[in-house]
Amino acid sequence: MKGKPWSGRFSQETEKLVERFTSSVDVDARLYLEDIEASKAHARMLGRRGILGEAEVEAILGGLDAIRQDIESGSFVFDPGLEDVHMNIEVELTRRIGEAGKKLHTARSRNDQVVTDLRLYTRKALERIASGLESFMDAVLDKAAEHVDTIIPGMTHLQHAQPVSLAHHLLAYFEMALRDRERVSQVMERVNVMPLGSAALAGTPHGIDRLSTAYDLGFTAVARNSIDAVSDRDFALEATFLCAVIMMHLSRLAEEIVIWNSQPFSFVELPDAYCTGSSIMPQKKNPDVAELVRGKTGTVYGDLVALLTMMKGLPLAYNRDMQEDKGPLFRSLDTTCACLDVMAGLVRGMEPNGPGIERSLKEGFITATDLADYLASRGMPFRDAHRVTGEIVSHCLRTSKVFSDLTLEDLKAFSPLFEPGVFEVIDPRVSVDRRTSMGGTARPNVRAALDEARAILEGIRRGA
Ligand code: ARG
Repeated sequence: MKGKPWSGRFSQETEKLVERFTSSVDVDARLYLEDIEASKAHARMLGRRGILGEAEVEAILGGLDAIRQDIESGSFVFDPGLEDVHMNIEVELTRRIGEAGKKLHTARSRNDQVVTDLRLYTRKALERIASGLESFMDAVLDKAAEHVDTIIPGMTHLQHAQPVSLAHHLLAYFEMALRDRERVSQVMERVNVMPLGSAALAGTPHGIDRLSTAYDLGFTAVARNSIDAVSDRDFALEATFLCAVIMMHLSRLAEEIVIWNSQPFSFVELPDAYCTGSSIMPQKKNPDVAELVRGKTGTVYGDLVALLTMMKGLPLAYNRDMQEDKGPLFRSLDTTCACLDVMAGLVRGMEPNGPGIERSLKEGFITATDLADYLASRGMPFRDAHRVTGEIVSHCLRTSKVFSDLTLEDLKAFSPLFEPGVFEVIDPRVSVDRRTSMGGTARPNVRAALDEARAILEGIRRGA
């Protein structure tokens, strides 16, 4: 084992059990790139300020680049006895370049180092989430564009409510993803603040220049208070919350896909490539991808609660509890990226099943509101129209009929206001096209909404 950098004060070796218990390198090794980038920027700044000599800076930069190559080629062996990725890299640097390596930690503590690395990592991960969201939105828009004319029963309480364009329904998910995309940018602003230079908690007597390090690392701001800088994990919480909300949105879509794909509904056919079979029931084709997205949502919620709980009792400033921030954050980001990718594919591959949807449109008295509106437009107070239509529904249920089975004669028995034109309003397509209010499902509205959504997405992609 290579010696621990903090061993000076200690006279006993660390108990093996404790070494394993306190080590986090199996989780945080993935921060190696950010750790090296931040160390290089720190060394360059120390050089600019005359704290390190030119040759020392060169040795540090070269040594760190070589370590990076070894990590990427797989030849670097992380030692759990050196706790974390930060100490592994620093100890190895010193082993390779000698004295200069030991000077890298001047004006720095692992407390500001770890959170700087984590912010750099989160920044990149949020960029991946943003592009995953954009691809998902793209898939939703392409599918919606194909199905403006596909009319499905819109639901409330999972009961047939009013007919809507499938495109309109899908565009609801576009709106959710768009809010998520906006949230990424908002969270990004708070992620992109540099703690480095706060040292352990109080700052440092060395004549450092934090602004230039921040500029070098692409941070847009420098943390103002050194104690807050090393204690704050709001950015990790916000990133995890962002993931939780995205997952909640994806999970609702996943749930709809599972329901739509079930035999009683038969609204959609899913691509074989996104389904799995049963080991015993040969007829089965299961919507496992959607189910897993729904299931994984729970783990991301768990991660958010884990982080909130970890933070709530911590006195200022750094406490080792905070080492536990990485698992939940990494898992949430990984899970969310993966779910965005598979859901985009699932949306692209799913196809509405015409006969299943048609059957359902006929069954559920889905145009009952239109029937009541018809009577209301002919002078009957809406409350009466509502009651009369309810009586017609009840009559149909008793006699096993649907609206389109009724004759004008039948209808006139409920109200003399019915005329032949009534048969038009109970057509689901007519019902959809009558909903012309702003944000409503009339097909011309939906086409305009699609164009607008497309323009918004293109604007985001151009960075507008
Ligand atoms: N691995 C630690 C973490 O992730 C690094 C910070 C250690 N600092 C300390 N004072 N022990 O939080």
